[in-house]
Amino acid sequence: MRKIFIILSILLILSTNCLGQMLRNDDLTLKNNCKPRQVRLLIGEDYSNYNITEIKNSATIIFQTYGECLQSSISVTVQNSQVVTYDGNIFSEIVHSQWNGEKFCHHDKLCTNMYYNQYVHIFRLPLPFGVPFTYTVYGNLYSKAETKGPFNSQLPHIKLENIEDFNEQPQRILFFGDQDNTPDGKLNMNRWRQLKKEGLKNKQQKIDSMLFLGDYAYEFYMFNGKRGDHYLDSLEEFVAEWPTAMQAGNHEDNYNFKFYNEKFRMPSFNETSNNYYSFNQGLAHFIGVNLHFYDSWATPEEKSKMVQWVEQDLIRATQNRNQTPWIIAFGHKPIYCSGDSDCANFPQSFKEFDELFYKYSVDLYLGAHVHRYQFLKPLYDNCIQSYQGDDNNIVNPQGMISVIQGNGGHVLEFLENIKYDIQFLGKTDERAIEIKNYVGYGILEIYNLTTICIQNVRSLLNKVESTRCIHSNHYFDNTTVNHVKANENIRVDSNSQYLFFTILAISSIAAIYFAYKFILKYINI
Ligand SMILES: *[C@@H]1O[C@H](CO)[C@@H](O)[C@H](O)[C@H]1NC(C)=O
Ligand SMILES: *[C@@H]1O[C@H](CO)[C@@H](O)[C@H](O)[C@H]1NC(C)=O
Ligand SMILES: *[C@@H]1O[C@H](CO)[C@@H](O)[C@H](O)[C@H]1NC(C)=O
Ligand SMILES: *[C@@H]1O[C@H](CO)[C@@H](O)[C@H](O)[C@H]1NC(C)=O
Repeated sequence: MRKIFIILSILLILSTNCLGQMLRNDDLTLKNNCKPRQVRLLIGEDYSNYNITEIKNSATIIFQTYGECLQSSISVTVQNSQVVTYDGNIFSEIVHSQWNGEKFCHHDKLCTNMYYNQYVHIFRLPLPFGVPFTYTVYGNLYSKAETKGPFNSQLPHIKLENIEDFNEQPQRILFFGDQDNTPDGKLNMNRWRQLKKEGLKNKQQKIDSMLFLGDYAYEFYMFNGKRGDHYLDSLEEFVAEWPTAMQAGNHEDNYNFKFYNEKFRMPSFNETSNNYYSFNQGLAHFIGVNLHFYDSWATPEEKSKMVQWVEQDLIRATQNRNQTPWIIAFGHKPIYCSGDSDCANFPQSFKEFDELFYKYSVDLYLGAHVHRYQFLKPLYDNCIQSYQGDDNNIVNPQGMISVIQGNGGHVLEFLENIKYDIQFLGKTDERAIEIKNYVGYGILEIYNLTTICIQNVRSLLNKVESTRCIHSNHYFDNTTVNHVKANENIRVDSNSQYLFFTILAISSIAAIYFAYKFILKYINI
């Protein structure tokens, strides 16, 4: 009886702790509260324009308030010039995100009825390219308490007059996906904080922009949307300063991505609802595609509209290839990945994109979804295409290279990885050059017309695990195409850390068991 009482007490303490956490969160939901939250700076509409004559919307800065707060504004200081204040009445759109108990689930699991009420302030600002600036966000212009900032940022160049200038300093783009606020996610964020400091000291280390490849917070809607808001609060120090492009993942798909779309705006939003868009940054043309929308939500008409849009975009990008030689596609679900049951179906499900990306010689696809780092050989028609050089320097690949970075840090990573390791022990995927299961992030470095490099950083050790470069003339010769399928089993490069943790877990359980026995024997409770 006493034992049961003690165990119940422990459970009660633990659960009130969680409950307390939730209640504290609820305290924040004050009416007429104009404190700006979750500030984020996204690549603006102008980046999708090749022939820009006037800067209109280079940056889209978004934040949320609990109250309606019609007097919001943003003050910007560009280098040493005067402060310019952008009045929300002119420069922003306010989206009221209101949910009154609608049922939210992910894959019919973790269902809750969501109550959520926030105002999303979306500012479209005309800030200069490639010049440092500082900004402060005001929820209410007349209340000095309700501000956030200052934040320091700099927009990447759309293009340079002199293309050689890029050689001096490669564009560095941080990319990752599948992240939440668990210790694994925080591990990455701690490294990025260091990265920001290093960037201030050394220009070569500076991050120019960030690509978020989908699956945020697991799940945005949980605890009445607070899980997502807390996650975006944690991400703020990065996403408010590194200009960011985002793609939704399958975890954001409720109500056809409605909740996600209330919170984010990428170029072409009015036409494509964040599902696909493109932008130019330096020597690269980036095209974002939400392939999960394509295979799980789009109607046949929407599917063909998306495919047509992507082809038109690639035709335009190809015509401008002397300006933006690199064409880089990105999204959450990839066409090619390894080691997840979904991966087996993707080349078939996304065949139309595979065809287009091959036809227009798309150099690289950056994806997530599988919680691994994977660097795959050039592929088309799910067959390995030829290349020269070696695995560190891939020369003139004759197909698109896929890089997966779904190791952003997600809850239960540890258990998932053990399962994965056991399942695929000793197997190989001939399509892969590298597969790692460490929490980390990727850095894409764009050097010049013919060279980009990709770093895989392992956050726990703060170590660059690999740097692989692609040297390309951006042309796939379709007379040499290979249609012989490769062996697609899975390879895992390293699992020793999990063996260590497994032994640690088993010994901890044993230790607790013996301690419990000891207490029962010698202490009379
Ligand atoms: C940009 O302008 C130039 C010259 O006016 C034109 O030749 C080119 O086709 C335009 N590019 C796009 C993508 O509209
Ligand atoms: C998109 O639509 C919104 C609302 O109608 C409008 O305020 C905004 O200017 C439009 N944006 C573009 C780039 O057309
Ligand atoms: C491009 O950059 C790479 C890496 O710095 C360098 O090795 C190569 O020589 C450069 N190529 C050109 C054409 O400048
Ligand atoms: C190869 O590419 C050329 C030019 O892009 C095209 O005209 C031709 O139809 C392609 N051939 C095949 C077999 O796809």
